[in-house]
Amino acid sequence: MDRRLMGTVRFDWGDLPIHDGRDEGDQIAFQAGTTFQFSGARTTTGFELLFTGSHEPDQILLLSRADQRDLRIPVDRPPLPPIRAVKAPPDFARRPPMGWNSWNYFHQNVSDAIIRQVADAIASNGMREAGYSYIVIDDGWQGQRDANGRLHPNERFPDMKGLADYVHAKGLKLGIYSSPGPQTCGNHEGSYGHEAEDARTFAAWGVDFLKYDWCTASRVYLPSESQAVFQKMGAALQATGREILYSLCQYGMEDVWSWGADVGASMWRTTADIHADFATMHQNALTQQMAAPFSGPGHWNDPDMLEVGNDGMNDLEKRSHMNLWAMLAAPLFAGNDVRTMTEATRGILLNRKLIAIDQDRLGRQAVLKRKLGRFEIWERLLENGDRAVLFLNVAEMPESHEFSWRSIDVPRPTSILDPWSTTGIPATSHIRIDLRSHESRLLLLSFR
Ligand code: GLA
Repeated sequence: MDRRLMGTVRFDWGDLPIHDGRDEGDQIAFQAGTTFQFSGARTTTGFELLFTGSHEPDQILLLSRADQRDLRIPVDRPPLPPIRAVKAPPDFARRPPMGWNSWNYFHQNVSDAIIRQVADAIASNGMREAGYSYIVIDDGWQGQRDANGRLHPNERFPDMKGLADYVHAKGLKLGIYSSPGPQTCGNHEGSYGHEAEDARTFAAWGVDFLKYDWCTASRVYLPSESQAVFQKMGAALQATGREILYSLCQYGMEDVWSWGADVGASMWRTTADIHADFATMHQNALTQQMAAPFSGPGHWNDPDMLEVGNDGMNDLEKRSHMNLWAMLAAPLFAGNDVRTMTEATRGILLNRKLIAIDQDRLGRQAVLKRKLGRFEIWERLLENGDRAVLFLNVAEMPESHEFSWRSIDVPRPTSILDPWSTTGIPATSHIRIDLRSHESRLLLLSFR
């Protein structure tokens, strides 16, 4: 990795532009103005910058041209921990976590009242029994930090502990959101420099889940420091003694799947944000492929929260979305207004046969096995030897295909089930699939 660095070095008497900047991963080097030479070697606590000159800089603002990320390294940055494995307990998140998250529908318009109503709905509409257990408050709950550094919720959340008690009394769990950066993506107070304190605050409120979102961490850390950055909060959460599911959100940078479990996380986002349209949803599923071997019991790839029930996808697309997420062994976090959903949406979120595939004990994520133009065949092996096969038509036009099982490299099944239908499908040597645009068919094949 060799990236060009640009930016500014800030002295109390003025700024100097950086030139001849190089980022080689473990070494960075640049010149500020004509006089000051900087070189930095990666240490276990970040970058240690050496410079020649008589003036201490106040802040070094780096911009990497290659990835267009703003890289700011304050000189007084708190240290990062040396890398070590901080594992979640071995019995934790053995199945892909399930719940609801406020972001996709409410964005920052969240409140105590909404979270209570959502908990009421999930506890009474069948979702809790189907496995949706974490109610996660995403960005927008934060207020100010007090003089002692303690973070408080805003006025829409008058009593976080009371809210957690309410959610727990419904047989559900409470999740919250923060960032390793100084601010969250919605410009609220982040946990930068207050990691241990915030972990203790969340634990004292009775929080059971933390989504920790990179956001403005790019102002204070290099992407290559991600593991140490996330490890810091992972260790802080564990030090509270409370079991808090740790969910990383940094959009798949730095191959997070290869180290996410080592920072104590049980799941990590692998992609950019989902939107309620078929194309981004499908793109998120596709970009899971290289991460597939790293997902499994206790540590899950997360292609983002569900958009099922939000405007922008028709009922066929919603089904395809749920089919894909079940195939991917994805965490299932509903992202719609579960207080007022349509029967079609409810039926999709509550398809127990599909949820059982998602939650299969083997935890093996599907792979895209074949692509015939814009027609895809995905396959997932299940614990009992069954296979789930998904046929998906990504095209804007209907498509029909007939396959022999052998031609798609699948043994001939002895029985075939469609989790969306009560009618059995004859286990013949060939299968014909007719799909409308963006429609999919998931088939559960048994060989016993
Ligand atoms: C990022 C995350 C989203 C959401 C928002 C909140 O974009 O990827 O899932 O948490 O921040 O501001």
